[in-house]
Amino acid sequence: MLLDFSYYNPTTIHFGKEALSNLSGELAHYGKTVLLVYGKAAIKKNGLYDQVIAILKEADKKVVELSGVMPNPTYNKMLEGCELVRSHGVDLILAVGGGSVIDCAKGISVSAYCEEEPFKKYWLEFQPVSNKTVPVASILTMAGTGSEMNGGSVITHEEMKIKGGRVFPPEIFPKFSILNPEYTYTVSPYQMVSGVFDTMSHLMEQYFCGNDNNTTDYLIEALLRSSIDNVRVALNDPEDYEARSNIMWNATLALNTVTGLSKTQDWEVHMIEHQLGAYTDCAHGMGLAAISIPYYRHVMPHGLDKFARFAMVVWNIPAEGKSQEELAKAGIDALEVFCKECGIVISLKELGATEEMLPKIAESSFLLDGGYKKLNSDEILEILKECF
Ligand code: NZQ
Ligand code: ZN
Repeated sequence: MLLDFSYYNPTTIHFGKEALSNLSGELAHYGKTVLLVYGKAAIKKNGLYDQVIAILKEADKKVVELSGVMPNPTYNKMLEGCELVRSHGVDLILAVGGGSVIDCAKGISVSAYCEEEPFKKYWLEFQPVSNKTVPVASILTMAGTGSEMNGGSVITHEEMKIKGGRVFPPEIFPKFSILNPEYTYTVSPYQMVSGVFDTMSHLMEQYFCGNDNNTTDYLIEALLRSSIDNVRVALNDPEDYEARSNIMWNATLALNTVTGLSKTQDWEVHMIEHQLGAYTDCAHGMGLAAISIPYYRHVMPHGLDKFARFAMVVWNIPAEGKSQEELAKAGIDALEVFCKECGIVISLKELGATEEMLPKIAESSFLLDGGYKKLNSDEILEILKECF
C-alpha cells in the first residue's frame, strides 16, 4: 500500500555532454560573488576547473575559492568556508566535485550565518534552519551519493568522532546541478564501484522495509538492475558513455527522494557506516558494502518474502526447488559475489578498522527502527565482527 505523501524537489538538472553550456544562464539569477568549492586535485587535472573559471569570469563574477575539501568532509573545513561566505558576502556557493564537496557546500550554506554552534544545532539536535542561508548549486564529477538533488549533508566532527548526517529541507537542495557523465571518466575503478555500491545501498535501505507491493519497490528493482549491469560495462570500458550516464542518473534517482516516497525506510546500514567512517575515514560505499552483507543476513528472517523477491527480481535466481529461506539467502549470496567480482572491499580490516575500534563504532551508531528489525548495540557489534 502506498502511504500518503507530498512531493516537491526544486533542483533543476542539466544532464548530458553539453550540460555545462547551461551554467552562464543559471549564474545570471545570482549576485556577483561566487564561492567555488572543490576537492583536492581531480578538477584541476581534468581541465574542468579552467572551464568553470572561464565561464565565471565571462559572467563577470567575483570568485572566492575553498579548495581541498576531503572525502568525508570535516567540520573544520566547512567552517573555513563559512568564514569566506561572511567576509566576502557570497551570493552563490558553487560546488564542483563529488558528494563530499556538495555536502560541504550545503553545510556552509546553513552554518555561515548561524549564531549558535552549527554542528550541535544542525547535526546533533536536528533543529530546523532558522537563520539566513546561501543558495547552493553543483557540478557533479563522481556518481553515488545523490547529493546533487537532495538535502543531505554529511559532516565529520573529528574531535567528537561523529560523522553526522542531516537531511535539510528543499530550500537547501542545490538550485541547479550540472551532470555530464564524461566528467566521471577519470574516477578510479575503486571510487566508481564505491559510488555504485552507495547507490545500491540507498536503494536497499528504501527497499528492505515495511509496506510492500508498492510502485516504489518496482522502481528500486529497476534501478538496482541497471546499476549492476552498467557497472560491469564501465569496469571493462571506463569511457563507455552509455554505462557512465546510466550510473550517474541511477545515483541521482536513488536518493532524490522519489525512491523513498510512500515507504517506511531503514537506513541502519548508513548509521553504522557513518561511525565506521568517523573512526577509519574509509570510502563511504566500501564501508556500506562490508556492513550490508552481514546486516542483511541478520535481519533476513524478519523480512523473508522481500529478500526472496530481491533474489528473483534483482538477481534472476529461479525459485523452483527452493524454500523461501533458501531463495532469500541466495539473493544475499549473489550480492556478495557481485561485490567480490567488482573489487568492492567487504572487510573492515582492509578498510582500516582495528578490533579495538569495533565496540566504539557499535556504541556510537544511531539506532533506527524503520527496518525489519531494530538492532541493539550488541547486535551491531556482532555484525561488525562478522565483516571484520
Ligand atoms: O578530492 P578530489 O581530487 O576531488 O578527488 C575525489 C575524492 O578523492 C575523487 N573524485 C571525484 N570526482 C573525480 C574524482 N577523481 C577523479 N575524477 C573525478 N571526476 O573521488 C574521491 C571521493 O570523492 P567524494 O566526494 O568523497 O565521494 P562521494 O561522492 O562518494 O561522497 C562521499 C561523501 O558523501 C556522503 C558520504 O558519507 C561521504 O562523506 N554522503 C552524502 C549523502 C547525501 N548528501 O545525500 C548520502 C550518502 O549516503 C553519503 O552518506
Ligand atoms: Zn550513502
